[in-house]
Parts: sequence; C-alpha cells; structure tokens
Amino acid sequence: MKRLKEATSSRHAALESRLPLLDADMSRARYLQFLQLFWGYYEPLEAQLQTLPYWPAINFDYAGRQKTPRLLQDLHALGETPESIQSFARCQHLPTLASKGQLLGCLYVIEGATLGGQIITRHLNSNLGLTPLTGGAFFDGYGAQTGEQWKAFCAMLRANAGESAQHDDILASANQTFETLDQWLFPSYPTPKGGTP
Ligand code: HEM
Repeated sequence: MKRLKEATSSRHAALESRLPLLDADMSRARYLQFLQLFWGYYEPLEAQLQTLPYWPAINFDYAGRQKTPRLLQDLHALGETPESIQSFARCQHLPTLASKGQLLGCLYVIEGATLGGQIITRHLNSNLGLTPLTGGAFFDGYGAQTGEQWKAFCAMLRANAGESAQHDDILASANQTFETLDQWLFPSYPTPKGGTP
C-alpha cells in the first residue's frame, strides 16, 4: 500500500491541483461541468468493469460501490434529463483492464478518490449549499461509511496483491487510471510526468 501511494502521489497531486472543486469561486455551472465529465469517464469505465471475469478471483462486491448511479442522481438533481445525459461525451481512452492486477490498480484509484471526496463534500455544502441529496452524492461517496469502506478495500487489496510480478501490474494500472482521467478532464495539459507506463 505504501509503494502504491508513493508511486502515484505525483499524479494525485497534479490532478488535485488542477481540479477547481475546492476553489472559493467555483460556480454551480462549473461544478455541473465537472460532474458531466466525471460521468463521461465513470460510465464507460464501470460498464467495462462489469464485464470483467476477475471478480470471483478477488472476492470483492463492487455492486454497492458503483459511482455511475451517484453521478446520475446528481445530474438529475441539477436539472439534467435522461436525454441530455445520454448526449454527453464518453471517454474512449480508459485504462487497460486485462488482468487481475490491472483491475486492482484501477480500483485503488477510484476507491481512494472517495477519501478526497469527503473534503469536497464539505466544500460543496458551505460554498454551493449542496447536500448529497441535492447534487453532491458522487463526492460524498459512502458518506459516514467512507473510512470503513476504504479499510475493507485495502484489506481486499492486500489479500490479493500476491507475488511481486503482479505488484508492477497494479502500480502501472493505478498510474494509467490517474493519467487517463487527467487527460480526459484536462486534455490541454501535457501528459503527466513519466508518461503512460
Ligand atoms: C480536489 C480533489 C482531491 C482532493 C482534495 C483529494 C484529497 C485526498 C486526501 C485528503 C486523501 C487522503 C490522504 C491520505 O490518507 O494521505 C486522498 C487519498 C486518495 N485520493 Fe485524493 N483527492 C482529490 C482527488 C482525487 C481524485 C480525482 C482521485 C482519483 C480519481 C484521487 C485518488 C486518491 C487515492 C487513490 C487516494 C488514496 C491514497 C492512499 O492512501 O493510498 N483523489 N485524496
């Protein structure tokens, strides 16, 4: 876990610094734009996750952790319709998910994001007056259960990390998940340092 955190920390920092979600002047319209972009990344990613054959092997129930339903709830709360949502662009350059290790690396990034989400949730509430019921469900993640859910995820990851050859797969995939999301959200920025592994 320590290696994973260290190996991805520069990409995490880059993404965190570019996201305007904690800016004092972030408007509702700008927030909605980011929700649309997150939907455009998570919808095709989670559709792909559902088709993977590695779930029984890692023994992890992702069903209740899906982020797309939370994004849909927020988009509807902020006035989008099923028709408008279907017209949003979807990311075409998703991380490669062709092994158990690659799935674990990708899950590390999307589950870890719920930790930062807790800070964003407080900000959305104080700045835009949003609650999880009125447009802030995605960043609220698992609400009060977020810490517990993260611990359970980490336990699963440790149990499945296996031999060191797989560790490289996990690290590379975590970095690729950060990079593909970063490129999707901020296409005009250069590819983060280190390039795609
Ligand atoms: C403004 C945006 C964000 C903020 C303020 C933020 C903040 C944080 C904080 C405070 C933690 C816990 C710190 C710790 O335990 O050391 C964390 C962990 C994490 N965040 Fe973020 N984050 C943001 C966006 C993201 C995004 C967009 C992703 C990925 C999609 C992400 C992925 C992760 C991961 C994987 C971890 C777990 C690190 C570990 O303990 O191994 N974060 N973030």
